[in-house]
Amino acid sequence: MRKPMVAGNWKMNGTKQSVGELLAALKEQITHVSDVEVAVFPPYVLLGQVEQLLAGSLVSWGAQNLDIHTEGAYTGEISAHMLKDFGCTYVLVGHSERRALYHESNELTVEKYRVAIAAGLSPIFCIGETFEERKKEKTYEVLSAQLLGILSSQENLASLKNAVIAYEPVWAIGTGLTASPEMAQDVHQKIRFWVAERDKHIADGLRILYGGSVKSDNAKSLFAMPDVDGGLIGGASLKAHDFLGIVKSCSSF
Ligand code: 13P
Repeated sequence: MRKPMVAGNWKMNGTKQSVGELLAALKEQITHVSDVEVAVFPPYVLLGQVEQLLAGSLVSWGAQNLDIHTEGAYTGEISAHMLKDFGCTYVLVGHSERRALYHESNELTVEKYRVAIAAGLSPIFCIGETFEERKKEKTYEVLSAQLLGILSSQENLASLKNAVIAYEPVWAIGTGLTASPEMAQDVHQKIRFWVAERDKHIADGLRILYGGSVKSDNAKSLFAMPDVDGGLIGGASLKAHDFLGIVKSCSSF
């Protein structure tokens, strides 16, 4: 059985004050929840505060990005070991905003995945097609190219047991457009099939999250799909009420 996960990607949002308020509300509600895993992804500068506030709670945390180097002269970058030092369990890798705005290639993204695994972090490996690509019926082609570096390497494939995949159609991110539950299921099933072709056991245990304008009013129908194992939430993860509403849609708490 896969335990669903609801992860909040705060992107470049939050202050010391807003984090205190948001996490106090989450901690108050998420006390005995065991049927869903909740995680937050603050900007780097808030990780120390998040670690302090969440240590010992049921909410995990991670970073939104990492560099492939361990240490040294890489101004402005943060390594996997630094993230471990701040108690991170997870790290987002290959978010579409990193791919599009910071020109991160499929190759670099896979390298980040590998580096995260090697450091003992669990990567949430993000993939997704643009509107143009979907219109041209290239969705599977784009997603399989994004996954190629993982599926084609025995070592990377085996490490999927410590990773999560997030399917985030670019056209659904921050737009208010959401993939229908059937559209999401179709893609998630395909991703699981690609993994199962190589290793059925890993495919069965692999959590595949959906991301893109998930709100408390559409989460339940998305998460009800057999291959949708929770969500990666942007905008709605910044308000406790909205985020908790999404968590509740796949939990009995
Ligand atoms: P929104 O939920 O704001 O569409 O963002 C999704 C996302 O990019 C999460 O990583």
